[in-house]
Amino acid sequence: MLKSLAKIKTRAEREIKEAKDLKSLNEIFKKYLGKQGELTQILSLLPKLPRPKRRKIGRLANQLKNSLTLKFDERAQKLKEEAIQVAKEKEWIDITLPGKKPVVGHLHPLTLVKRKACEIFSGLGFEVVEGPDLENEWYNFDALNIPPHHPARDLWDTFWLKLDKIQKKLLLRTHTSPVQVRYMEKNQPPLRIVVPGRVFRHEATDASHEINFYQLEGLMVDKDVSVANFRAILQEFFNRFFEKEIQLRLRPSYFPFTEPSFEVDISCLNCQGKGCSACQKTGFMEMMGAGLVHPQVFKSAGLNPQIWKGFAFGMGLDRLAMMKYKINDIRLFYSGDLRFLTQF
Ligand code: PHE
Repeated sequence: MLKSLAKIKTRAEREIKEAKDLKSLNEIFKKYLGKQGELTQILSLLPKLPRPKRRKIGRLANQLKNSLTLKFDERAQKLKEEAIQVAKEKEWIDITLPGKKPVVGHLHPLTLVKRKACEIFSGLGFEVVEGPDLENEWYNFDALNIPPHHPARDLWDTFWLKLDKIQKKLLLRTHTSPVQVRYMEKNQPPLRIVVPGRVFRHEATDASHEINFYQLEGLMVDKDVSVANFRAILQEFFNRFFEKEIQLRLRPSYFPFTEPSFEVDISCLNCQGKGCSACQKTGFMEMMGAGLVHPQVFKSAGLNPQIWKGFAFGMGLDRLAMMKYKINDIRLFYSGDLRFLTQF
């Protein structure tokens, strides 16, 4: 019996040590200490032994039972810890890896230019206001000194709307100038406003013409406003917008709602005024129509032209954006082509 106890000890200890997982450890436990286990059987034989033998073997067998139980527990604990470690390694997340970048939206180049232009004019004391895209004939034409059958209406190829029940004929505004009268009807001078907005022309498209584009209207009215004021403000605007000294040029022109009227050119940004293909070798680029507000326009708004003087201008925002970003086709703004748009 002593021999078999010694054998059980060596075998059991080795097997416990070598157990690979909790399941096999459990089997080993059963083999020695289960109901039919080898050591359990020896323990159950004890009462039948003669006394002196029983004491000796009993003590050894119980010691072995205790020491094996302890070893089982230790090994079980170790195997559990190992299993947890393996699971942790499998689920391990490297928090230092760079994450997936969300695609962030951005502003359209025309919006960027509009905001920049409005910001500069705000700094010069101009209020930013807006008017409707859908205009009536009065504000778009008559109020601006362009009566029906006046040949000047041919300056704008217009989208008319078919609306029988409405007295005033409706159209998609051909320029932002109608907002001049709309604003002056409701606000007493002195006043300074800029009006960004979309305008529509019924015409064939090409690299420099679109059926819709954006304008920035400007209007300043006071008792003593002159072309010199206009020139100074526009000079300041262009210098700030392009962040360098820009040369201005005023040429005589014609608009029914300004008198005198002129076109404003700026020195070509491409060749600094030397002459290149972008400016047709003239060294200048046309930027806007402008002039001193016609007395008839003040009358349309219910103001006395004897008292009030003012200047107005209509600048093409697309043209401004094309200059700033060196874009050679206006149609790109409206194409929705991401290869173009994501560059801004
Ligand atoms: N409304 C004119 C256009 O669209 C531009 C302009 C505005 C001219 C204000 C003079 C004064 O062409």
